[in-house]
Amino acid sequence: MRPATLITGASSGIGAELARVFAAHGDELVLVARREADLSALASEIAASGGKQPTVLALDLGRGDAVARIAAELAARDLEPANVVNNAGFGLAGSSAALDRDEQLAMIDLNIRALTALSLAFSDSLVRHRGGILNVASIAGFLPGPGMAVYYASKAFVLSFSEALYAELKPRGVRVTTLCPGPVATGFQSRAGLRPGGIGEGSIFALPARRVAEIGYAGFVRGKRVVIAGTGNKLAVFFMRFVPHALLLPIVAYGMRRAGRV
Ligand SMILES: NC(=O)c1ccc[n+]([C@@H]2O[C@H](COP(=O)([O-])OP(=O)(O)OC[C@H]3O[C@@H](n4cnc5c(N)ncnc54)[C@H](OP(=O)(O)O)[C@@H]3O)[C@@H](O)[C@H]2O)c1
Repeated sequence: MRPATLITGASSGIGAELARVFAAHGDELVLVARREADLSALASEIAASGGKQPTVLALDLGRGDAVARIAAELAARDLEPANVVNNAGFGLAGSSAALDRDEQLAMIDLNIRALTALSLAFSDSLVRHRGGILNVASIAGFLPGPGMAVYYASKAFVLSFSEALYAELKPRGVRVTTLCPGPVATGFQSRAGLRPGGIGEGSIFALPARRVAEIGYAGFVRGKRVVIAGTGNKLAVFFMRFVPHALLLPIVAYGMRRAGRV
């Protein structure tokens, strides 16, 4: 079977840039998201610029059968993952009691359930190819987030789970890297109900999606456990450790209120 790099959420934002970076380094890609036209356009662009022709799998990762479908589609094409990049995810801004409960549970299905299932589903082939897993968390994973509570908690899960997986899989020759971006201008903000530029745009914390993808890729090939994208975000995460949550919670709540659309 041919080794491939599976990338979720490749139809836009950080995922599309990760796909361009992995393809530029010679990987054969499997691109997953719901918007088929955007995935196909990216696949054509990668092939036209000399990369291997990517496989497009248009599916909803929130569905319970998504991982089984991916496995079947790969097997039918004689492909198996050497690398898995779990990037698909979304957030919702607002008070969790006021936000739609089903939408928040759908966030857990995507950000946590699908990421966990895909991190575990292909371990034999990752071991065989001495490949790895690149899981996209966020600097939100380092603190509680009133005003975006379920999202922050979902990223805390990604960070904790992926760090533990790093330790479990390292002896088997599989690297696991958690990429933690700060603010990146993508489709994320409008999906979350955040004002454009509401969180950190134009500040020392903001980076373009391409730069985040390059930093993530570099950390992944070096086998780094956690990669925080950008100096401003590294400093923020470092100093956050010394701030008691009693102080941090109102600061985050204030920031989220200002960043929200309403
Ligand atoms: N932008 C930021 O400021 C920021 C900061 C820290 C972390 N992150 C994280 O970075 C990752 C990528 O986000 P982004 O900023 O690039 O946002 P984005 O442009 O909105 O991209 C999100 C991607 O996830 C895919 N997706 C969403 N729901 C899906 C579903 N049910 N099934 C399959 N794919 C689905 C979307 O594709 P379809 O709509 O085509 O399905 C899209 O490709 C996320 O995990 C996010 O939490 C973002």
